[in-house]
Amino acid sequence: MRTLIFTLLGIALMVGTYVVFDSSTTRMPLFSVSSPNNHVTVDYGLDTIGQPFYQVHYDGQSVIKKSNLGFVLADGKEFHNRFTLIKNSKNHVDEVWENYWGRSQYIRNNYTEAVYTLHHPLGIMKVFFRVFDDGLGFRYELEKGQGQDIVITEEKTSFNLSSGSQSWWIPVDDDSYEKFYEQTTLDAIDSVQTPFTLRTPENIYVSIHEAALVDFPSMTLKKDERGILKSRLVPDPNGFVYKGENCVTSPWRTINFGHKAVDLINSDLIENLNTKSNQDFSWVKPLKYMGVWWEMHLGLKTWPAGDRHGATTKHAKEMIDFAAGHGIKGLLVEGWNVGWDQWKDFDYCKAYDDYNLEEVVQYARDSNVEIIMHNETAGYVDEYEHQIPKAFDYYQKLGVKYIKTGYVGPIKTGEPHHGQRMVNHYQFVLEEAAKRGICILGHEHIKPTGLSRTWPNLLAVESARGQEYNAPWAPENNPPNHNTILPFTRLLAGPMDYTPGLFDLTFERHGISDKRAYSTLAHQLALYVVYHSPAQMACDLPENYDNHPAFEFIQNVPVNWSKSLALDGEIGEYVVVARKDRQGDDWYLGGITNETGRNLTIDCSFLDSDKEYEVIVYKDGESANYLSAPNDYVIEKMKVNSKDKFKLKMAPGGGFAVEFKHVLGEAKSNRRVEMLNHPVEI
Ligand code: NOJ
Ligand code: CA
Repeated sequence: MRTLIFTLLGIALMVGTYVVFDSSTTRMPLFSVSSPNNHVTVDYGLDTIGQPFYQVHYDGQSVIKKSNLGFVLADGKEFHNRFTLIKNSKNHVDEVWENYWGRSQYIRNNYTEAVYTLHHPLGIMKVFFRVFDDGLGFRYELEKGQGQDIVITEEKTSFNLSSGSQSWWIPVDDDSYEKFYEQTTLDAIDSVQTPFTLRTPENIYVSIHEAALVDFPSMTLKKDERGILKSRLVPDPNGFVYKGENCVTSPWRTINFGHKAVDLINSDLIENLNTKSNQDFSWVKPLKYMGVWWEMHLGLKTWPAGDRHGATTKHAKEMIDFAAGHGIKGLLVEGWNVGWDQWKDFDYCKAYDDYNLEEVVQYARDSNVEIIMHNETAGYVDEYEHQIPKAFDYYQKLGVKYIKTGYVGPIKTGEPHHGQRMVNHYQFVLEEAAKRGICILGHEHIKPTGLSRTWPNLLAVESARGQEYNAPWAPENNPPNHNTILPFTRLLAGPMDYTPGLFDLTFERHGISDKRAYSTLAHQLALYVVYHSPAQMACDLPENYDNHPAFEFIQNVPVNWSKSLALDGEIGEYVVVARKDRQGDDWYLGGITNETGRNLTIDCSFLDSDKEYEVIVYKDGESANYLSAPNDYVIEKMKVNSKDKFKLKMAPGGGFAVEFKHVLGEAKSNRRVEMLNHPVEI
């Protein structure tokens, strides 16, 4: 016994960190690492069979109870027990970095790191824990040695949360995230995609996701036989989840905490866990864009050539004229290249006869508009990869700086959309594009994991049900609470190409009465602020924007921000977000609600305290309702400063969008603005 105590003491001294002993469940020291201000504490160690585990406290509350770590390798080789400690070390990082685009310009990256190095008969495993005040990330490094294959069949990481937690989730489908969200208690789920969001019985908000997903299958979560959530990696058609050699570094497994739902939105943890870009990406320019797009989704035009072909030279030029005339910087043109008729054999350099690509690109350049090339693969990924060097060279030569990719339908090689092979494909596209000064917008793409920090040319991806599901072709349109769930789930991962801005919300004038967007017009405007993306579409037809007073908001709203603050909200209910323009002193505010109308008091204390603002409010009209009067909206003007408060009413399915334009002059004190009753005209 004395020898054991001395041995343990020796190890404790050797590793130089704080240790406690729990001899009933562990045979080694239990280590502990806390965030810089001690809000989050992670304990970790090895149990009696050498199985590594961790557990997490948030502000003194146990949130993740004892949970396993490790892997199973090919042929059932267990890489999750029989470990012995080699070393444990800690360090602290506190830095501020600046991004090219994002919710905030300067991001503080402040964490304590522990590196836990373990020995196993099959190799070495390191677990890196990075603990922030609003959560943590941990990742594995497995090392087998030169020339040795590493084939993983299972990840053992678990997340042992209270089964009575409320949760918001989409079910696992290894090919698609375009699903309806469910809200259930944790015990009612089987398997879910990440980001996976929960509220514990103690009212702690939690989001589980991953960061820096590179050369690894994507993580989904599945309940194990004990009812505990466990990582399930997306397998390849042979059932292997990861294949490599020598050494593998996993993505970070991330867990965010908050006392309020909006705390999850205000976190920078996912981006902080990615590495900074090591090249100059100052050529990446956020933009708003229109498209030869919604008319196809409405069924008015077609992607393949023919009488109603959308992508004609003439029509593209009309769209360029409209975009240029309204300060919209980009134009997406879908259905421009051959392949759409057969839905295969796409040629990414060959345009249809009625579309003169070079003429259109030149016309766009002369009009100061960027063309966004569309590369739909229809799942023919090998064929796409083969054509990429030539096609991207050609686009670069033309001066094209944006590509929207698409992966509709099964991948033709039988690989899942979210396995290691496809994760590597999305990465290949990104890097080939970066080499040529091209930005990517990805549809049917892997979920974001903060890689835009390393590759800022990855602007936005879809990876959820976007506005396209409000089109007539959708068997069911997005329900009214869909948009109020996304900010607390999918959008925690990173920007989404949601494609907001629908003004004609019911399609009755096209003879369609059973399909619609379940939102008001003011709600559509609010999405430009509530959903951050460096590439925002104005998705509707020019005729629906022409001379429409509310289009001014879409023209004005920025796509790059110096500061963002999610102010208030509840998952699936409502959310209010304020953002400051990166180019100036103006602030913007957006709020959306689900099918329930609400009255909110806006406290302007988020504004710069020394400034006065002229305010333009776009809000639901008195009789607005997403079902009966979605287009009822009003525009009001007033003046405020940071000491003011005003009331705003959101209709069922409604919202508001507000511009705060900085004006010269001293801030006046303590004025109350009861806008609904007494709008102050500027
Ligand atoms: C699905 C995409 O999400 C949509 O934006 C695109 O128009 C179609 N695929 C056609 O590629
Ligand atoms: Ca899609």
